[in-house]
Amino acid sequence: MMSESIELAVIGGTGVYALAELRGMEAHSRVTPYGQPSGPVRVGRLGGHRVAFLARHGEGHSVPPHLINYRANLSALKSLGAKRVLALNTVGGITAAFGPGVLGCPDQLIDYTWGRVSTLCEEPGSEVLHVDFGEPYTPQLRQSVLAAARQAGVALVDGGCYGATQGPRLETRAEISRMRRDGCDLVGMTGMPEAGLAREMGLEYACLAIVANWAAGAGPDVGEVITLQDVLDNVASASAGLPALLEAV
Ligand code: HPA
Repeated sequence: MMSESIELAVIGGTGVYALAELRGMEAHSRVTPYGQPSGPVRVGRLGGHRVAFLARHGEGHSVPPHLINYRANLSALKSLGAKRVLALNTVGGITAAFGPGVLGCPDQLIDYTWGRVSTLCEEPGSEVLHVDFGEPYTPQLRQSVLAAARQAGVALVDGGCYGATQGPRLETRAEISRMRRDGCDLVGMTGMPEAGLAREMGLEYACLAIVANWAAGAGPDVGEVITLQDVLDNVASASAGLPALLEAV
């Protein structure tokens, strides 16, 4: 039974496995019609607000991007009463405005993933959905996130195109050059099918991208090797303003 509604659901990405600021946390572990989510949904209070948190890769980062049960994750949040989902996505930066440490709120995306369960219409007999996806992120929620960032004094780049790649390997320099020509500003592995499924489920959805590194060949040091440790270190420093921003959302 839901006593109070959840005002915001947050899906944490690489390097964001918990929201330590959540108070009075309850854990909800539930199997959904789509199977098992990546882990428990933790519901608690952030400031005066009821917030749900789910670690996309599992709390021990055990689920790679292509094996995440995106449908179950969103379904678990929806079944707890969430209507607005803010996705935290760790990304590489492609264009000049998106260097390591930058936070961005993209307004477009291109999907380069393949072989993932990417729709609710997977099962025979399920209703065929052709949802509008011209604006892949909910404009109203994006505006709330941008306003919250201003209120919290957190620098956030408004707009940009997120390119979703298959992973789990990082990209080649040629792949990033192609993505730049396509119009991508950011590259990550988990933005799709999550955004499309959220739209099919009728959830408001926006992305808060945390730039952890220059994408392959995009930074000043073209031969730079990207390590997971660099990614985690940069996410940790870029995330300092997150609790204040989330509370304001
Ligand atoms: N490419 C894809 N996904 C990522 C990257 C990257 O460079 N950095 C963090 N997630």
